[in-house]
Amino acid sequence: MKHLVSIDDLTKDEIHEIFVQTKKIKAFPFTYRLNREHTILSNLFYEPSTRTNSSFFTAMTKLGGKVLNINNVNYSSVSKGESLKDTIITMGNYCDVIALRSRTAGDALKASQVSTVPIINAGDGNGEHPTQTLLDLYTIWEKFNRIEDLTVTFVGDIENSRTIHSLDKALTNCNKHYRDTYNEEPWPKSDVYYLTRVQKERGSRGSYTMKKEHTNTMPEESIVLHPFPRNYEIAEWFDTDPRAKYFEQMKNGLYVRMALLIAYTQYK
Ligand code: CP
Repeated sequence: MKHLVSIDDLTKDEIHEIFVQTKKIKAFPFTYRLNREHTILSNLFYEPSTRTNSSFFTAMTKLGGKVLNINNVNYSSVSKGESLKDTIITMGNYCDVIALRSRTAGDALKASQVSTVPIINAGDGNGEHPTQTLLDLYTIWEKFNRIEDLTVTFVGDIENSRTIHSLDKALTNCNKHYRDTYNEEPWPKSDVYYLTRVQKERGSRGSYTMKKEHTNTMPEESIVLHPFPRNYEIAEWFDTDPRAKYFEQMKNGLYVRMALLIAYTQYK
């Protein structure tokens, strides 16, 4: 059985297959409405989420399947002290695949070691967020028709951003730059600017904002991505700039997760 714990669990060919499937789904979503009828996804979320939880929910629903949505474990037996292991074993009896968001890096791996159904890591503490990376990569691929030979600048909370950790791993053969929250050096000319929020819930401090001086030197054909939620990193005045691709990026999350659910439930 295949789990998706780290973006390293997917080969380049598998990532490309997901892109091809995503492109078809995005073009003709209605065609897939019964694709996973009688399939059940468990959304097991130990941390808050808007996009990941909702897009997984919608993805399975649009494929004709059903969702067991535990999007606040405080209302489950976790609040009575049930362990991650016992929770995963329990949920494996009731569903075909589990999307797990957890508080601690390494939890998704632990879950995969005891699970009887595929585990999809929906973000584990400050570890990884591989499904976010797939939609980030897909958005880059849509724009540039490749995910290699690009210049990418990561800006923000490099240490604690799980989205950066996974995307950084996946972007091989790229020219990469890093600008941590407190780094005031100008941002280099890049194809992709990937900004993240300061992860206060993980002990990070400070804040930063993309300014006109930054955007004035960004190439016209570059794109700005952000996994969201955003705080101060990108002011709303930039939302209408053609380089702002973060709303398209979050929309792609739905189609990428539909493609992923098809791939991860094919042997159920
Ligand atoms: N990008 C992302 O993971 O957003 P949520 O925390 O809202 O799911």
